[in-house]
Amino acid sequence: MCGIIGIASNRNICKDLLDTLNRLSYRGYDSAGISIVNDKKILERKIKGKISNLENLLELSPIDGALGIGHTRWATHGKPTTLNAHPHTVNNVSLVHNGIIENFQELKNSLLNDNTFYSSDTDTEIISHLIDNELKLGKTPIDSFLNTVKKLSGAFAIVAIFKDFNNLIIAGKRGSPLVIGYNKDEKYICSDVNSLTNLTKKISYLEDGDTVILNSNRVKILDENLKKSKRSIITVSSDRVVSSLSGYDHFMQKEIFEQPDVLSQSLAYYMDFSDFKMNEDKFNIDFSKYEKIVITGCGTAYYAGMVAKYWFENIAKINIEIDYASELRYRNVLLNDKSFSLFISQSGETADTLAALKFCKDNGQTIVSIVNEVESSIAKESDLVLPIFAGPEIGVASTKAFTCQLVALASLALHIAKVKNIISIDEEKNFINELLHVPKLILDVFEKENEIKKLAKIISKSKSAIFIGRGTSYPIALEGALKLKEISYIHAEGIAAGELKHGAIALVDKNMPVIVLAPEDLFYVKTLSNMHEVISRGGNIIFIGSCLDDILENTKLQGINVETSGKLSSPIIMAVPLQLLAYHVAKLLGKDIDQPRNLAKSVTVE
Ligand code: G6P
Repeated sequence: MCGIIGIASNRNICKDLLDTLNRLSYRGYDSAGISIVNDKKILERKIKGKISNLENLLELSPIDGALGIGHTRWATHGKPTTLNAHPHTVNNVSLVHNGIIENFQELKNSLLNDNTFYSSDTDTEIISHLIDNELKLGKTPIDSFLNTVKKLSGAFAIVAIFKDFNNLIIAGKRGSPLVIGYNKDEKYICSDVNSLTNLTKKISYLEDGDTVILNSNRVKILDENLKKSKRSIITVSSDRVVSSLSGYDHFMQKEIFEQPDVLSQSLAYYMDFSDFKMNEDKFNIDFSKYEKIVITGCGTAYYAGMVAKYWFENIAKINIEIDYASELRYRNVLLNDKSFSLFISQSGETADTLAALKFCKDNGQTIVSIVNEVESSIAKESDLVLPIFAGPEIGVASTKAFTCQLVALASLALHIAKVKNIISIDEEKNFINELLHVPKLILDVFEKENEIKKLAKIISKSKSAIFIGRGTSYPIALEGALKLKEISYIHAEGIAAGELKHGAIALVDKNMPVIVLAPEDLFYVKTLSNMHEVISRGGNIIFIGSCLDDILENTKLQGINVETSGKLSSPIIMAVPLQLLAYHVAKLLGKDIDQPRNLAKSVTVE
């Protein structure tokens, strides 16, 4: 994965490399580094840990110059150490890399036979050695680069600079994202557009197979057949708002509390609240002909798809096939012209989701995507993009993107139900009215934050926790468990409440918090029965749901009353107390809430 930046200029660029790395850090933060060519020397600084460590290192030991590259890493091959940090410099070349070189061991073995000395355990260093070997044979930088890239397999993007060339960057895109930025007397190459908008708004997207030769004045692009090519230059309209904490302690906390606002925006895009109708113009595909939807995504986005499965089946009466993107792409799932494929991704760049999309597209599927980043690779490959309007999500653990994805999914379910004539105008009105209440009901959850903090204290003392729910509360249980794991490092499992008795109940004792999700829905009574099975075995219940029977009073349970307004709103609202619960557990434990260990916001490797 990782974030990469290259700048060719005629002024000192160290500060801009660092600023861009900070913007790219959602792609990984295991280590960071930069290399600068200055006066026929490659100057390199790199260090384990976050970009702030690199900033400190550069203060102690500054370097600067007009041409350089930078990297922020999410470790794949080799531990997150300083030696494994990028750039990898070997004699005459220094480079940064995003992706995986799948045949690196084979290439490494062949070089080991030549007595090459390795200073890292990465797959990247092999590329530097291969290019340097070509340079030593007297080849030009571009021939050395191209000869090397030919030998590599996998999905990757590489950006290289050369000791003897103080105004030359060569880059190659083979599967991982790369964009070019243009300014007068200054050119850039970067993993994404949003991280570049502080430097320029004029950008080009590269295509797979492209090789770029750039200096401060010129950009030359060769396509996969090495034919000189043009990629259109577009002006990106808006700058990504560089988010600030605005008084909150963490971005995750800020993003949880932004939900009533961003959800209102998302709802207003898909629905007209003046006459309680769906905005049909947002769905410019004829969905009436489809009988099946193939849904995929990763992590939290996948759980959003799991919630929507219940909606599509119940409300739109359409068949659903759903799987993790990393599984779906290799399953040879049966696709035909009666199905369309639906991809859910906050970033729009997740490698597995993108690969699954390509698989479905190659099999003739119509592609619909639900994304936050509308300029992303997934958005670009789609026939219809349904934006979620969550705004920038900085906290690695997804919160507002999840609930906004649910709004887009609920809207699509209503639209399909409508075009298939499954719901009446009155039913449409009722569903829209129900969703209209979501922002206010989430504000009601915020009122209970102090009670949630008390529940968090109980969980913070546990080694493990179980979340149970039925219907749409089952994927919400999975999402609640994921949130807790991600940021507090406490083991947690989401389990379908009815399934608990088939195995996991063996884990229940007085030390095991069992978080019961029981909103007022069809399954309410059945979920309560499952809760009583846990109580009978001495389990430590934390109840989150509707207190229809004064349940907290009568059974002396700890928990909170959460009011929901129907089958579409229920999972959206139920997700919020679980986000707050995980947040407060992690805060009590002093964890790194916005950048938890081993994770990254956008995962662009398989
Ligand atoms: C990473 C993030 C998760 C996210 C998943 C899918 O693993 O840490 O929070 O849910 O990727 O990301 P996407 O951008 O495709 O929604």
